[in-house]
Formats: sequence, C-alpha cells, structure tokens
Amino acid sequence: MVVILIGYMASGKSTLGRILAKKLNYEFLDLDDFIEKKENAAVSDIFNLKGEIHFRALETQYLKELLASKNNLVLSLGGGTPCYSNNMETILNADNTKSIYLKASIPTLITRLKNEKSTRPLIAHIETDDLLAEFIGKHLFERSQFYSLANATITTDNKIANDIVEELVLQLF
Ligand code: S3P
Repeated sequence: MVVILIGYMASGKSTLGRILAKKLNYEFLDLDDFIEKKENAAVSDIFNLKGEIHFRALETQYLKELLASKNNLVLSLGGGTPCYSNNMETILNADNTKSIYLKASIPTLITRLKNEKSTRPLIAHIETDDLLAEFIGKHLFERSQFYSLANATITTDNKIANDIVEELVLQLF
C-alpha cells in the first residue's frame, strides 16, 4: 500500500508520516525532500528562481513517478500538491493507495506558521501576523475542497502524535 498524507503547511504531515512509517515498517518519503534531492535545489530556490508553475510541474511529475514505482510507502505531500494538475484525481485512481487529510484548525496553523515563515515561499513575504492570519484563513478555505476528497480525514488539534498515528492505522486496515 502507498499511504498519502495530505494537509496544509505545518499540519504535521512529515512528523506523523515518519512515525506511521516506522510503525508499519514502510519506507517514508516527503515529496518536498524528494524534489530537493532530485533537483539538487531547495524548494524555496526553485520557487524564487524558476517560479511556482515550474515547481508545481515538478511536484506532479515526481508524485506520478513515486505512485508508479513504490509500494509499502508513506508519502507526505506538500500543502499545495493536491490542489494542482488534477493530482487528487491521480491519487484517488492509483492502485492500492490510501489518502488521509490531516486537518488542523486555523488558529493552530497560524501559531505554527508565524515562526516558520522564512522557509516557506508562499508566506515569507507576509509582513504582519494579522495579514498572515487572513491569508491562511482564505487559502485553507480554497484548498479544503481538494483536501476533503481524501479517503479519510483525521483532526489533529489537541491530540498527541502517537494517538493520531493510532487513528491513522485504524483508517488504513
Ligand atoms: C507549499 C507547501 C510546502 C512546499 C511549498 C509549497 C504549499 O510544503 O511544497 O513551499 O503550496 O502549501 P509543506 O506543506 O510540507 O510545508
């Protein structure tokens, strides 16, 4: 099986994915890290030097490559991956693949992202906390239509990582 973790930036996809993979004895991959390795460039540099559209094409290319070649894999996507190039349709139609939306609340995301702006090209330029909060609210609203297509949704607020991973396992088998 390929388990795909979906969710907004800072929703815990990679942290939880790593724990889940260990528990299942699966390989873990983070799509951003995979792209960075393959392209030998940081995601923020790809955004800044080649543009977002180029980055989105790379995401789609490597997502398809991984879905076609891997098994026993937990794959955490970038926050935008499900929202471009019909990637959700690709995921839903892939054999032996389960997608799970890790749903964090807007206040939780704001708190986490306030401290992590610089490494995230989509929000690095937002100057005040108020503007960041407004951006996240609107952006998450737009993206939710894609995220909610996942096979299952797990809310993550006020839960410890191990409990969330237990819930993930229950959704998979
Ligand atoms: C993005 C999220 C990032 C990364 C890129 C764009 C997005 O991944 O792919 O900066 O569009 O939400 P994370 O969700 O792992 O931060």
